[in-house]
Amino acid sequence: MITETDVQQLFGSILERIQNAELREKVVKAWTLACQRGGWESVDDLRAMPFTLLTNTRGVNFIEHTIAVTEGAYGLAKAQEAVYREMPYEVDYDRLLAGGLLHDVGKLLEFERDEQGKFRKSRSGMCARHPISGTAIAYEVGLSDEVLNTIACHAKEGDGRPQVVETVLIHQADFGTFNPLVMMEKGTLIQ
Ligand SMILES: [Fe+2]
Repeated sequence: MITETDVQQLFGSILERIQNAELREKVVKAWTLACQRGGWESVDDLRAMPFTLLTNTRGVNFIEHTIAVTEGAYGLAKAQEAVYREMPYEVDYDRLLAGGLLHDVGKLLEFERDEQGKFRKSRSGMCARHPISGTAIAYEVGLSDEVLNTIACHAKEGDGRPQVVETVLIHQADFGTFNPLVMMEKGTLIQ
């Protein structure tokens, strides 16, 4: 069983930057709940899980992806704040960090292991992609509408939809980690 302590250890360096203790707890609760619902037993499962089934991830796992996207979105925000004489919009860092950690939490329901132990799309995943299932989990633990937006609208479901700025940053960081791998498969990444 994956416990709240496991989740705290996995994401400690990011969680500790979330100022609002209640928000931090809800992020951990959402992650733990999604692990339970998805039937994941151990942290080793999470470390073995590819972050997407849509392309060859070349060994990048779900945990690494979640951290890279969160830090990427954080870096995008910090860079603008450091360089602009005046920020045209305000970034809510608590929301950004929470949304980064949770943007793909629905993948814990979207994926499962087959009889050979390989990862595949689950029945739940066929019924609802991870932005939808992740939003449902986040709603269940009482996260705010704005955090729900970062999950619901971080992928193609959010194209052209109203978004908080943290969703925009998470989306860009997410595709900054995904697109190069897809391009490698297609032979369009110049190396
Ligand atoms: Fe992602």
